[in-house]
Amino acid sequence: MHDQRDAVDPTAWFDSVDLATLRARGGAKWSKYGPDVLAAWVADMDFPPVAAVRSALDAVLERGSLGYPWLLEHNPVADGFADWARRRHGWEIDPSLVVNTIDVLQPMLALIELYSEPGDGIVVQDPIYPPFRNAIIDAGRVVVENRLGTSLDPSAMDLEGLAAGTDERTRVVLLCNPHNPTGRVFTRAELQGLADLAIERDWLVISDEIHADLIYPDQHHIPFATLGDEVAARTVTLTAATKTFNIAGLRLAIAVFGSAAQLARYQSIPRYLLGGANIMGVEASVAAWRDGEAWLDALLPYLRANRDRVVEAVAAMPGVHMQAPQATYLAWLDCRELLERSSAPNAFERFLQGGVALNDGADFGTAGEGFVRLNFATSRGVLERILDRMNEVCLASF
Ligand SMILES: Cc1ncc(COP(=O)(O)O)c(C=O)c1O
Repeated sequence: MHDQRDAVDPTAWFDSVDLATLRARGGAKWSKYGPDVLAAWVADMDFPPVAAVRSALDAVLERGSLGYPWLLEHNPVADGFADWARRRHGWEIDPSLVVNTIDVLQPMLALIELYSEPGDGIVVQDPIYPPFRNAIIDAGRVVVENRLGTSLDPSAMDLEGLAAGTDERTRVVLLCNPHNPTGRVFTRAELQGLADLAIERDWLVISDEIHADLIYPDQHHIPFATLGDEVAARTVTLTAATKTFNIAGLRLAIAVFGSAAQLARYQSIPRYLLGGANIMGVEASVAAWRDGEAWLDALLPYLRANRDRVVEAVAAMPGVHMQAPQATYLAWLDCRELLERSSAPNAFERFLQGGVALNDGADFGTAGEGFVRLNFATSRGVLERILDRMNEVCLASF
């Protein structure tokens, strides 16, 4: 029998995560940097999965159902997501326009190949989750940087820069909303401005909304495709249950197409280049969307309290500055002042020497130089140890 504590009191379950458990669990996050380092890098949470996911995976094994899944006549992932999108985001989608994918990056690359030629421009709003840039480079396309930030707000969308910095060879925009690494939730005005340009210049918008459920109070996620039929028809939304429910290892995501024509174009790609869904990913995602809502509703205040604690702790760290993220469990820390005082080549190295593994901002593009990304989706006890070590690094630099 599984421990059902999370069904009763998920917060106690989140709090119970300790270092011994994390180190014994394996996985990239807690393995890469060895036993002396506290892991606050890759975007996995430290919490065990919701009971609904564990039961769904057990049920697959009990049925002995590990053969090829039969998803052609009825795709439960499409129905499950349609229901979730309606409940959580007021977004009505047609399940027949939903396709299962292995992950988010694979259809992104396939769409770049489909909608552009080598040498064409693909827009990213940097600093940006590194695989976006890598996908563009790997495809032989040109990275068009539309750096976030205006004179009023360092993480706002620079629509003027976007209009001025693109040309007739720009074919596709990679939107990340909510935005990784800044945690920005774009406003309706920002999204509408982008949509207007996309229509005027005939761009495809690939909207990665994988963090859409991890939103803090007084924020509202607007699915890009809801901005109207004309916008939907030139948008492909990529998302998954994997970030929300911490099941990225199960490898299942979805692409939501804006029209039957767009879907048919995608399906013109030889199917063996696209791969197929894993039965465990299917069952877990469907169960999470159907039965995981109470767990998520307990998780969000926990993450929010962690976020607020990070804001408080960073305010006391000399040389480090941040804006509170509006979404995601990622904090984007500006360490440029700290670096002025330190001999280490970058802040990532400096904190690693101090026993905390973060993500190096430079991997997010030149806009990320001097920054690090901190993952605060862990128990409060582990978070306090991470913050203590970071504070010691900062104090030692001044
Ligand atoms: C914005 C964003 N997109 C995609 C991914 C990865 O998704 P997948 O593993 O499905 O490719 C992540 C993971 O951190 C992410 O933050």
